[in-house]
Amino acid sequence: MQNRLLISIFLLADCSQAPDGSTIRLEAGKDYPTYGGNNANNRYSPLTQINTENVNNLEVAWTYFANDTLTQGSAIQCQPIVVDGILYGTSAELNLFALEAGTGKQLWKFVPPDGGGRIRGVMYWEGDNDKRILYTAGSYLYAVDAITGKSIVTFGNNGRTDLHDGLSDNMNHDVSKLRVGASSPGVIYKNTLVIGSSVSESGDAAPGHIRAFDVITGKLKWVFHTIPQPGEFGYDTWPDGAYLNIGAANSWGGMSLDEKRGVVYFGTGSPASDFYGGAREGMNLFSNCIMALDAATGEMKWYFQGIHHDLWDRDFPIPPNLTTVTRDGKKIDVVVQAGKDGVVYVLNRDTGESIFPFQEKPVPTEGLPGEHPYPTQKYMSKPKPLSEQLITEDNITDISPEAHEFVLQRLKEFPIMESRFQPPSAEGTVLFGYSGGAEWGGNAIDPEGILYQNVNNEPWELKMIRKEMLDEQTANLSRGNALYMRNCSVCHGENRKGISTLIPSLVNVKDKYTFSDIEGFITAGNGRMPAFGYLSAGNRKAIIEFLLEIKVVEERGNNVAETVEVDDQNEKSFPYMPEYISEIWTPFTDHNGYPAVKPPWGTLNAIDLSSGDYLWTVPLGEYPELTAKGIPVTGTESYGGPVVTASGLIFIAGTRDERIRAFDKNAGDVLWEYQLPAGGFATPITYEVDGVQYVAIAAGGGRGAKPGGWYMAFALK
Ligand code: HEC
Repeated sequence: MQNRLLISIFLLADCSQAPDGSTIRLEAGKDYPTYGGNNANNRYSPLTQINTENVNNLEVAWTYFANDTLTQGSAIQCQPIVVDGILYGTSAELNLFALEAGTGKQLWKFVPPDGGGRIRGVMYWEGDNDKRILYTAGSYLYAVDAITGKSIVTFGNNGRTDLHDGLSDNMNHDVSKLRVGASSPGVIYKNTLVIGSSVSESGDAAPGHIRAFDVITGKLKWVFHTIPQPGEFGYDTWPDGAYLNIGAANSWGGMSLDEKRGVVYFGTGSPASDFYGGAREGMNLFSNCIMALDAATGEMKWYFQGIHHDLWDRDFPIPPNLTTVTRDGKKIDVVVQAGKDGVVYVLNRDTGESIFPFQEKPVPTEGLPGEHPYPTQKYMSKPKPLSEQLITEDNITDISPEAHEFVLQRLKEFPIMESRFQPPSAEGTVLFGYSGGAEWGGNAIDPEGILYQNVNNEPWELKMIRKEMLDEQTANLSRGNALYMRNCSVCHGENRKGISTLIPSLVNVKDKYTFSDIEGFITAGNGRMPAFGYLSAGNRKAIIEFLLEIKVVEERGNNVAETVEVDDQNEKSFPYMPEYISEIWTPFTDHNGYPAVKPPWGTLNAIDLSSGDYLWTVPLGEYPELTAKGIPVTGTESYGGPVVTASGLIFIAGTRDERIRAFDKNAGDVLWEYQLPAGGFATPITYEVDGVQYVAIAAGGGRGAKPGGWYMAFALK
């Protein structure tokens, strides 16, 4: 143990002895020991065997099929880790596996008692004779022996800790039925594992508290309230008692850790419910904040709120990165956070002050009845946002005269948008920032302080409706149909026909899925489709029977409101029901389903964080059918981030064309690409075993594209 540790330090400098005797793997070297490569989330590898000259000689080294079955709708978002030449990852079912990283040979597989949800990575920790993988599946945090794959039964309750722990303190409602998972891994400081959560975005959202658990015992160590409670700083940025009813303001994108400072950094999301804040007048700290907490105690060091009183679902979707920039000849340690709205914040790591100046400017305050839009918002001077902020006649699509005309006419149906902070309305708004700028795949930063970020540039349309009106509209429908209208039609459409390639049609869903398949999607979510954990078994059944066209006729005319009350214990514990909910929330597209804005729709960017200037921007991904028509490569949305190497390469997949590519980090040229067997909607890693450098990625498919389930590794011929 000690010998190997010393060798690692000398050869790779990838370990250090923590003060309490545990070993923390710090940097990607031969191994890739943490989600994000290191705790700073740099996704930077010092390996150089694969370089700009030879990358074109990459070929498949091994392929591993991770899933139990190749089911429709399955997907893998996991960026694996490699420790001591063993690769750890998860399948679509959230089974955890260990492979020989050089051959792809399976060493073991751990099947959790309940799966469900999507996760993006796992955590590794080691102490004396004790090596653990910690990861989340469903509502639990599991501890698994990294060598044997066996559950560590002394952890938590027989090997797992319930992620509801610590959420209901001081609260008078029961959170046990509310959905709580964790789609991104946390960070481990000494023996303290700090983690955020994924929760609902509607009235039934669980509180988004940040929690710390003991890595050895699984016991709760501390809780930080992202919605402050009486006596806590920020309590007065909400109506009195808001914390009792309102949830979310959760951190779902992942975290960074500065081991030397002992500080954990993360971004939070919007408070519940999305798009309507009638019951939450005020600035709503600590939603939409970049935050620094003491990793050992949970004490707040500072916060920086990007959006006040969010009405647009502008969550911080990715882990922040830690790096150092040079300003006026001085080095400054910074934390960098990119947002779904394309804004990039570069903040002093010790004080939370922005490195680049910003202005707090007045914004529109005419909202829906009962709404209290915040009167000012921040406008950062630099870097320029990664994606468009508004759609106007000047930037609508030009891929064909028909597409242009179609969008021009559609745009006239909406009130003119003057600000990206225009509050949602019943007439409709067109917004950027739901499926990008930056998304959960993360980004990469090299030691020179250059940020490599993939970006989605796609507008969405939003139309709000009074909940009561929707209830009236659905009063005469069958119970299943009415529940479908309330919960599912906003995406799949009132007629169940879906939207182009983005949201599947459910018209003939009975030919494709069984009752239990659909039940699985509803309870656990499916790619971009959220989970509906709050729906009672009875209401789930009603929706599924409606979709499978069973029993619909005899139930027609049931009074929905009454039925819901009778058998719906879960939904009665809703913290609150917003007065307005979204009636339409779909991509804003041309007549063929392509984004309504001028391409590029997806890009890869390099930003010098010291100057805030862009070094280059190139399209990422393509629609071959459009390229064939002579349209310049448009880029596509991407889910999955980059990894950058010391030899000047950026590896990234994530695009709708299901390819993985290598870019030259200096100029943004594509140097290599490979057609994956299914979408690589995940972030690749690179590592070395027995003198050979590998690049590996999950080709897990999903997101409306064909299903997958493979992990693939590439090496030089
Ligand atoms: C926020 C948008 C959204 C909502 C709301 C939503 N879905 Fe989905 N749904 C999707 C997307 C996107 C997919 C494709 C998933 C993927 O592969 O990533 C999907 C897939 C599905 C599928 C699988 C279809 C196929 O052909 O693979 C079923 C079944 C389904 N949804 C049922 C439902 C039901 C039932 C509800 C309501 C309880 C619902 N959805 C609500 C977005 C949504």
